[in-house]
Amino acid sequence: MTITTTRPGRSPGGEADPRHGADGPDAPPRWWRRPWVGPLALVVAVFLAMGIPRYLTFDPADSKIPPDPQYPWHYPVLVVHVLTGTVAIVTCCLQVWPALRQRHPGVHRLSGRLYVAAGVLPSGLSGLAVAYVSPSGLSMQLSTATTSVLWIGTALVGLRMVRQGRIAEHRRWMVRSFALTMSIVVSRVLGVVYDHTILPPPATQDVAELIAWGQERAGLAAWPGWILPLLVAEWWLVERGAGARHRARQARRKAAVRT
Ligand code: HEM
Repeated sequence: MTITTTRPGRSPGGEADPRHGADGPDAPPRWWRRPWVGPLALVVAVFLAMGIPRYLTFDPADSKIPPDPQYPWHYPVLVVHVLTGTVAIVTCCLQVWPALRQRHPGVHRLSGRLYVAAGVLPSGLSGLAVAYVSPSGLSMQLSTATTSVLWIGTALVGLRMVRQGRIAEHRRWMVRSFALTMSIVVSRVLGVVYDHTILPPPATQDVAELIAWGQERAGLAAWPGWILPLLVAEWWLVERGAGARHRARQARRKAAVRT
C-alpha cells in the first residue's frame, strides 16, 4: 500500500498544509496531529497477543475454531489465514504511519508490497475458504465471504491506481482497504460488548443452545464489524476532500487579492 502525496506538506491545491509540522512543509506531521497512530498500534498489539499464539503451536487442539474433520485442509488453511492476516494487519499499521511514510519511503514501498502480496491476497483467499466450512453460522459465513471479496478487491484496485500513477485515487482505495483490515478487531470488540450487554453467554451446558448463541453472536459481530469501519472511512474521505477543496479555494482567493 504505497501512500504518497503529490508533494509532502502540500494539499492538492498546492498550498501549505496546516496539518503538517511547524518545521516546514516537508517535515512529517507532529504526533498530536495524528493522535490515532499510538492507540491503533496498541489495540492491534493487544489483539495479536491475545489471538495469535494459539495458532503458532500448529496443533489443531489449540484452535479456537474447531477444525472440521470432514475437511482435512480446514486447520492448515486457517493457520495460513491467521499468519498472513498478521502480516496484513502489521504492515497496514506501518502504511498509515505518516512519519514512516515521509522519512522512509523505501520501507513504505516494501511494506506496501508485503501488505498486498503476503497479507491481503493470501489471507483474503484463505479467509474465503475457512468461511465456507466455518461452524459459526450462515450469517457470519456470508458476512466474512463478502469482506474477503471486498478486502482483496480494494487492495487490488489500490495497487492498480498506484501503478498508473493515480496517487489520490490510490490513497482513497487504500483507506478503504485499511478499514476492512481493521474489521477483524472491530468485530472482536463488538463480540465482547455483546457478552456484557445484549447477548450474555447462556447459563447452560446444553451444547445446541451454546452453538445457537455462538452463531448469533458471530453473525451480529461480523456485519457491523466491517460496515462500520467502511462508513467511517467514507466519511473521513469526504471530510478530507471537502477540507482540501476549502483550503484550495481560500488559497486561490488570497492569491487573487494579492494580484
Ligand atoms: C478482513 C478480512 C478478514 C476476513 C474476511 C476474515 C475471515 C475469517 C474467517 C471466515 C475465519 C473463520 C472464523 C470461523 O470459522 O468462525 C477467520 C478466523 C480468524 N481470523 Fe480472519 N479474516 C480477516 C482478517 C483477519 C486478520 C487481518 C487477522 C489478523 C491476524 C485475522 C485473524 C483471524 C484469526 C486469529 C482467526 C481464528 C479465529 C479465532 O481464533 O478467534 N483475520 N477469519
